[in-house]
Amino acid sequence: MCGIVGYVGNSNCVPKLVKGLKTLEYRGYDSAGIAILKNEEIWVAKDKGRIHNLEDMIDYKDFVGTIGIAHTRWATHGIPSKNNAHPHMDQNKHFAVVHNGIIENYLELKEQLIMHGFSFQSETDTEVIPMLMEYYYQKDNDVFEAFKNTLNELKGSYAILIITPLLPNTILVAKKNSPLVVGKGNDGIYIASDIPAILEYTKDFFFLEDEEKAIINNDVTFYNEHFQEITKNAKYIDWEMDAIDKKGFEDYMLKEIHEQPEALGNTLNGIVGLDKAVRFVNFSLDKEYLEQLNHIYIVACGTAMHAGLVGKYSIEMLCRIPVDVEVASEFRYRNPIINANTLCIFISQSGETADTIAALKLARKRHAKTIAISNVFESSITREADHTIYTHAGPEIAVASTKAYISQVGLIVAFAVYMAEVLDKELELCHDIQKELLALPNYMEQIIENNEQYYELAKKIKNEHDLFYIGRGNDYYVAMEGSLKLKEISYIHSEAYPAGELKHGPIALVENGTFVFGIITDSNISEKTLSNLEEVKSRGANIILITNQNIKKEHVINIPNVHPILSPILSIIPLQFIAYFIAKEKGLDVDKPRNLAKSVTVE
Ligand code: F6R
Repeated sequence: MCGIVGYVGNSNCVPKLVKGLKTLEYRGYDSAGIAILKNEEIWVAKDKGRIHNLEDMIDYKDFVGTIGIAHTRWATHGIPSKNNAHPHMDQNKHFAVVHNGIIENYLELKEQLIMHGFSFQSETDTEVIPMLMEYYYQKDNDVFEAFKNTLNELKGSYAILIITPLLPNTILVAKKNSPLVVGKGNDGIYIASDIPAILEYTKDFFFLEDEEKAIINNDVTFYNEHFQEITKNAKYIDWEMDAIDKKGFEDYMLKEIHEQPEALGNTLNGIVGLDKAVRFVNFSLDKEYLEQLNHIYIVACGTAMHAGLVGKYSIEMLCRIPVDVEVASEFRYRNPIINANTLCIFISQSGETADTIAALKLARKRHAKTIAISNVFESSITREADHTIYTHAGPEIAVASTKAYISQVGLIVAFAVYMAEVLDKELELCHDIQKELLALPNYMEQIIENNEQYYELAKKIKNEHDLFYIGRGNDYYVAMEGSLKLKEISYIHSEAYPAGELKHGPIALVENGTFVFGIITDSNISEKTLSNLEEVKSRGANIILITNQNIKKEHVINIPNVHPILSPILSIIPLQFIAYFIAKEKGLDVDKPRNLAKSVTVE
């Protein structure tokens, strides 16, 4: 939520900041702004709306500086408006601040500051930060002391950048529970919420830990939570710029759907091979540990949680260890039963999801072993967990997750196979699954190539208001993910149900013409789901069947036949395409759906 970028160096910062914001637009897109220092004054350009609005209002000849900070917002406190857009300043225009996160005690601080004569322009929590800076600066005439005192007052989460004409060549940086990276380029120092925003200028990144600070001018000096100077080493990130390019596709989402075979292949590379058991680099669990496990939790949000459900299916089938999959925002507040014999797995593409991180911290406190599955190197979740396994989907820019989901599913299935092999269980099945995992990218290509049929279908569905997705077992979990994709980018309401549940209530909603997607990929239960589809058909529903079985129906989307543990990796692709094409047909912005943001760093 919210993206921030900063630059100090010897080039004009404005085009760099605008470009960085555009790369970060997936983090929030309801308003945007930039503050620079020019002629010992803070100059601000900001407005409601997308970054192109901001671009249009900037006078590039005049709005020039070598130090600046920028922000793209996902509103938490206060509606999207010019006043609520960042950067925010104090009334004496000494400090300009951009902030990602939530200052939880802002009302209390605001009241105190108002009593001291400060007046506020916005409804945001952020505005207390420049005001506090000014309040403390007036007391001691010392910017650094003001910075320390201000941070001491703040409760909640923040990634903050501050510029001030009082230190015309310096950016003050602080981080707590919101991501922030610093990179040294040839012409200056860059700061951003996320690597892609500054990848063009460097591949060596410093990752700030919680409560660390940085003072950035000609060089960067890092400080720990007690404001003692510390040394940090840069980490090399091997991402290419073209990974964040649309590569000729109309949208990132379409590009990312097409990248799925490669994303899965890269994720499994080095982990799954034909001639050996599944192996993870730098990570192993021994048989004794796995045998004493009494419970596994998989905790995540949204699409990542749906990938976790496939993990439950695989681990329970192969290892016979009970698994519960929980939404992180529920798990963290319901006092779950966790102890040293519990394994907790946390899945997060961004690695920055606030609820997932909080759930992980809880599990650690209760002595469970914790494993993070993340797509972002050195993201917060990876630094909290005992072990991390990375998906290698490459940067996912579209808000709706596709290639990260496929990679998460592939990885968690590989993990289930790994555990079963250590436990000496289902070895033959494990070997078959390994073989099929390696064949999946080719099968995925076939489904992707056939995408014309999904477009035709999308045209028929685009004016619907309510749809159903049904399946059993893993097919139900795919139904949930397919339904989520449709909701988030096409704004059409849909429900996913276990096929056998419809007649316990929701079938009352089925009327003449209602579209129902059925997913059938497990021959053992295909008859059962087919009967449920017949039940809705006889009430007038239009059925669309996605299957790897030889079933004759009016509308069938055939996919290659693989073991039901792996079928989600194939059966989700037509549903991703259908959601995408419907959104396109409706003229919607698929990459940046309304009200959403890619990285949910608030609870
Ligand atoms: C949906 C989607 C979200 C995320 C969820 C968790 O397409 O992308 O539901 O899956 O917000 O995000 P991460 O995986 O970054 O923790």
